[in-house]
Amino acid sequence: MHSDMSKTSIGGIGRDRIADLRETEGAAFRKARPQSQAKVGNGLPGFFGGVPMHWMNDWPTPFPILVDSAKGATITDIDGNKLDDFCLGDTGSMFGHSPPPVARAIRRQAGRGLTYMLPSEDALAIGPLLQQRFGLPFWQIATTATDANRFALRVARAVTGREKILVFNGCYHGSVDETMVRLIDGKPVNRPGLAGEFRDLTRTAKVIEFNDISALEAALGDKDVACVIAEPVLTNSCMVLADPGYHDALRKLTRAAGTLLLIDETHTISTGPGGYTRKYGLDPDFFVLGKPIAGGVPASVWGMSDDVASRYADYNRTKEPGYSGMGTTLSANPLQFAAMRAALEEVMTPENYDRMDHLARRLDAGLTGVIDRYRLPWHVSRVGARVEFICAPGPLRNGAEAEVAHAPELEAAIHVALVNRGVLIAPFHNMMLISPATTATQVNRLITAFGAVAAKLGA
Ligand SMILES: Cc1ncc(COP(=O)(O)O)c(C=O)c1O
Repeated sequence: MHSDMSKTSIGGIGRDRIADLRETEGAAFRKARPQSQAKVGNGLPGFFGGVPMHWMNDWPTPFPILVDSAKGATITDIDGNKLDDFCLGDTGSMFGHSPPPVARAIRRQAGRGLTYMLPSEDALAIGPLLQQRFGLPFWQIATTATDANRFALRVARAVTGREKILVFNGCYHGSVDETMVRLIDGKPVNRPGLAGEFRDLTRTAKVIEFNDISALEAALGDKDVACVIAEPVLTNSCMVLADPGYHDALRKLTRAAGTLLLIDETHTISTGPGGYTRKYGLDPDFFVLGKPIAGGVPASVWGMSDDVASRYADYNRTKEPGYSGMGTTLSANPLQFAAMRAALEEVMTPENYDRMDHLARRLDAGLTGVIDRYRLPWHVSRVGARVEFICAPGPLRNGAEAEVAHAPELEAAIHVALVNRGVLIAPFHNMMLISPATTATQVNRLITAFGAVAAKLGA
């Protein structure tokens, strides 16, 4: 009965209806974008696969939206269509496009040199700002969250002398090779689809389900894991919240096993000015944050505890001389410092977070209201200013459940239908971010558009 249903429906919606919606909305998308279609309908010339970055082909629209400009929480395409932007560069612009203080800082720095491999005076301010805000005493700057994670994991291995790391099924921490593992039918394997990966990554990475304390205890029991790398909420597998008490158990068990804990806040910085870590009193050994930390200028930070820092200093005194394997040339450049300082001091403020949280609650309630009205078997999940609707019942408890809940065909149809109603959400799942620039009117438009699409699907 259940499998028959799943052949004909996804997320409680008939496949025929989804296919119809995709077709009519695809046609409407094209009709509204004659200039874009002429320019990018067959791909951007000169780029492999027709796009400068392969993810740009993963949007469900018939061709990529060719952006003219973006300001605040609005994107305008070259055909003059305006979109309320809730994707916000998949978190890179979660504080709005070109926040004025960041834009001013960039302009100021533009005439003073863009990269020197030496600190600028802004760097003097950044160290203490990171200490106060996130609570860890020692920091380094990198250019992407991927790199920050890679470097922190390297330090974790160096100071523990252990080779293995532990990740949660369904995780994403950037293109960090060693985290690219999954549980399939309960068995650890290389994440399907990895290009050119011939190594068995499960040799050095353990993978368990989130929210499973016994599995964690068992995996750490051999005392061979250098570091657990975790998002405090799984945000890259739909959105899976931690069970009450799970983070306490994670911290206690890692300490007992001599395993370090890396909390990757790149997405959960939506929770508050100090991330989920500060709001819920987590006590990690490493803290990583990338994407929006410099308001959209590529930058990331990684912090370590006193204990890790002193062990790393000892390690460095005894290790053989030579390149550490960490660092990229443009990291910690003065443009990053200028933009990061403006973002931390003037944009990522408690007042802005209050506003974001308030509107995110409104969005959560509005979407839930629509789901209830049309009796859809869906739910909404939220971590601060980050909201997600999931086309399956919830809450979800782990990556395996999230995998089953994911409904790519249905989601693609909904995404294009929302674009045609003036709303942009993240392409890979149904994620929506509220920035300080997002208005109540924009949130209401999204709820109305979602209602209109639900009406079409549920009709
Ligand atoms: C939790 C988390 N960490 C790290 C990253 C990697 O960020 P970047 O692509 O900027 O390196 C991502 C990207 O989505 C992420 O979701």
